Order: sequence, then structure tokens, then C-alpha cells
Amino acid sequence: MLLRNKVGVILGVANAHSIAWGCALHTHKEGAELILSYLNDKIRPRVAPLAESISADFMELDVTDDESFKVFFKFIKKKYGKIDFLIHSIAFANKEYLRGKYVNTSREGFSLALNISTFSLVEAAKYAPDIMSDGGSIIAMTYMGSEKVVGSYNVMGVAKAALEASVRYLAKDLGEHNIRVNAISAGPINTLAARGIGGFSKVLDIVKEKAPLKRNISIDEVGKTACFLASDYASGITGEVLHVDAGFNIIGV
Ligand SMILES: NC(=O)c1ccc[n+]([C@@H]2O[C@H](COP(=O)([O-])OP(=O)(O)OC[C@H]3O[C@@H](n4cnc5c(N)ncnc54)[C@H](O)[C@@H]3O)[C@@H](O)[C@H]2O)c1
Repeated sequence: MLLRNKVGVILGVANAHSIAWGCALHTHKEGAELILSYLNDKIRPRVAPLAESISADFMELDVTDDESFKVFFKFIKKKYGKIDFLIHSIAFANKEYLRGKYVNTSREGFSLALNISTFSLVEAAKYAPDIMSDGGSIIAMTYMGSEKVVGSYNVMGVAKAALEASVRYLAKDLGEHNIRVNAISAGPINTLAARGIGGFSKVLDIVKEKAPLKRNISIDEVGKTACFLASDYASGITGEVLHVDAGFNIIGV
């Protein structure tokens, strides 16, 4: 088992379709002990049975609230002492900005999207040197809309570009603590967050037609890659963005 005797935190489980849940299932299968985060009381009833099915702890975390961060990591430090990996699988933008033209994004819509989807990784990383006292691995979830224009992805593409740049800067800052920081650039998957993006089902069809593997990917495939990046097999990899997208990103004309 790749992650035997390792403790991991996975941020952003909403339901059984969440990428975070794919990561939870596979890291658990590889022997990790887990703490899962969920947004609020509304989501808790869906997350509780999932967490219980893999004997994981679960706790509320609203990444827009500094106090929520403090309470979350204080609980983990007290109960577990240290952790070995953290998977960040959180993003949000108001639906009105995930359709139409990017140029129409408001200051408020821009700030909210980057606050929740990007700054939250930076804030989580601040706790890493203390809580990953033996070194560790931080993994964030991104999407190709950061590199190329993907219709309707708009402000989230910009948030993901900033997230990927943050991965590189955090990798530089945390390297001296033997903490690696990487991102998985996942292909489109039908999740709660993805359903908010205008024309999303068309994107799934295009990937199926054009990707080298002629199909879309699953949360299991992201979860398995997360196991690799969290494990000692990836000990020399940091600041990297690894595409798990059936090869779609390599296709030009
Ligand atoms: N689904 C895709 O096609 C796809 C592709 C590439 C990358 N991603 C990324 O994967 C990650 C997970 O998304 P998903 O597709 O599994 O959808 P999801 O809806 O299952 O997960 C998004 C999570 O973000 C959480 N969240 C939103 N606002 C929050 C806040 N203020 N505080 C704490 N948590 C908050 C939600 O509660 C949810 O658990 C995101 O970063 C997303 O951008 C998704």
C-alpha cells in the first residue's frame, strides 16, 4: 500500500461525484487515514455517510473565513499531531460569470472566484510547515481553461491560471520544509461544480471525440494520480502540473 501510516487532509467533498471523494476513496484504499472537509451544514448530511464508510474524520471548513481555517487545523494538530498530505479540491464562481463573455465579469465576481478557488490554497499552505513537520505533499485541482480559452469557463480559467502560478511559488517557498506542491489538471467530469458551467456537456462530447484515449476521465483516475503525488514515488516532483485528461491537452489541429 502506497500510503500506509500516512495521514491526509482532503478539502472539498460535496458528494459521491466530487473529485475530492475520488481522492478519498483511493488514498484510503492505499492505507491513508483521512480527514475530509465539507462546506457547511447543508452539505454535511451527504458527506457524513461517505466519511463513515471509510472511517474518516470529517469537519466543516469555509475557506472564506480565517477563523474556520484556524479551528480546522487546530483540531487536526491536536488530534493527529502531524499530517503527510493535503488535497485541495475547492472552487467556486457565481454562475452568471460561467457563461457569456469574460469581459463582463464584475469586480465582486472576480474577487469571489479567486478568493475561494485560489487564495484558499495559499491560506491552507500557511499551515503546512507546522502540520507537515516531517515534510509532505500538497495537491491542488486545476483545469486546462487556465492555459487555453475554453468557452464559458471565463473567470474560473483566470482563477486556475493563478492557482497554477501559486503552486509554483508555494513549491519554492515550502521546498525547504520538504513539502512538495503540485497540481492535477483534470479533464472535464460531471460534478456539482462543473454543472454550473455553461455548455459543459458539449465539452464532454468534444473531449470524447478528440482526446487520444477517445473518452473522458473519471474521479477514480484523478484519485489514483493523487495517490502517486502524495506518495514517496513522487518524492522528486514539485511545482508541477500533471494532466489527467485522456491526453486532450496535447492535441492541436
Ligand atoms: N469537474 C471538473 O470538470 C473539473 C476539472 C478540473 C478541475 N476541477 C476542479 O476540481 C475541484 C473540485 O471540483 P469538483 O468538480 O469535484 O466539484 P464539487 O462541486 O464536487 O467540489 C467543489 C467543492 O468546493 C467546495 N466549496 C465551494 N465553496 C467553498 C468554500 N467557501 N469553502 C469551502 N469549500 C467550498 C464545495 O462545497 C465542493 O465540495 C475544483 O477545484 C474544480 O475546479 C474540476
